Amino acid sequence: MILPGSASQSLGAALADELDERLAVVETERFADGEFKLRVPDAGGDRAVVVAATTSAEAHLELLQLQDLARESFDEVVTVLPYMGYARQDRAFREGEPISARAVAQAISTGTDRVLTVNPHEPAVSDFFDVPVEAVDAAPLLAEALPVIDDPLFLAPDEGAIGLAERVRDAYGTGTTDHFEKTRDYDTGEVTTAPAGTDPGGRAVVLVDDIVATGSTMSAAIDRLYERAAAAVYVACLHPVFADSARARLADAGVAGLWATDTVERPVSDVSVAPALADYL
Ligand code: R5P
Repeated sequence: MILPGSASQSLGAALADELDERLAVVETERFADGEFKLRVPDAGGDRAVVVAATTSAEAHLELLQLQDLARESFDEVVTVLPYMGYARQDRAFREGEPISARAVAQAISTGTDRVLTVNPHEPAVSDFFDVPVEAVDAAPLLAEALPVIDDPLFLAPDEGAIGLAERVRDAYGTGTTDHFEKTRDYDTGEVTTAPAGTDPGGRAVVLVDDIVATGSTMSAAIDRLYERAAAAVYVACLHPVFADSARARLADAGVAGLWATDTVERPVSDVSVAPALADYL
C-alpha cells in the first residue's frame, strides 16, 4: 500500500499506478491546539510505502505519523523521500548550530526499514540514516522531457551542479557542458554569478540545477546569459521548491521553458519520478 503525505499525493498516485498497489486515502483530524492526527482506515498488508516530500515542518510530522501507523499494520515499511528537506544543512556552518540533516535523518530512521531518496542535495546525508538508503538519480528523466534542441549548452549555475548538468547532457545525448561561478552574500541573500567560460552567444542554453528555491540563482544566471546574447535560456531542475515569487522571477528574467520533477509538487512539476522510484521498489 502506498501512503502519501499531503505534499506528495500526485506522486503517490503515480507510484500506485506504476506498482499496481493500493493508494491510501489519508484522513486528517485537526485539534484546537494546532496538533493533527492522521488515519488510514483500511491500513494493512505486507508492505507500506510511505511517500512524503518533507518540504515543511508539518510534512515532517505527517511523515513520522504515517511511519508510525504503518509500523502497526504492515510487515515492512519503506520510506520514500522524493525531496529531503533540510538536506542543505548537512553540517554546522557556525559554532553552536545543529546538523539539521542528521537530526531529521535519525528521526526518520526510527520508523522505517529502508529509505529511498531522489538526488539529495548532499549525497553524504545518506550516512546520517541508521537504515539502508538508496538514492535515485532523476537526471535521465529530466533529459527525456526536454524538446529537441540544436547543439544545447548545459550549464550548471554553480560548481555543485556540474555533475548533474553532465548527467543530463549524457542522457540527452548531445551538447556541451559548463558552469557559472556563484557567490552568495549570506547577510543579504544576494547572489552574484560570473559568466562561464563557454560563449553562449547565439546558442540555446539549458540551465540545470537540483533545487530552485527563491529563484535568485537561476534568474541571475538567465540575466547573465541574455546579456551575452544567448538565443534562448531553458531551466531544468530536479526539486522545484519555488518559494515566494520564484516562478514570477524566472518568467521576468525571460526563461524560455521550464522542466521540473514531481519530487516537489508544483504547477511546473511535469516530469514524474514514479517510474524511476518503481524500479527500486
Ligand atoms: C545550491 O547549492 C542549490 O543547488 C541551488 O542552487 C540553490 O538551492 C538555489 O537556491 P535559490 O533558488 O534560492 O537561489
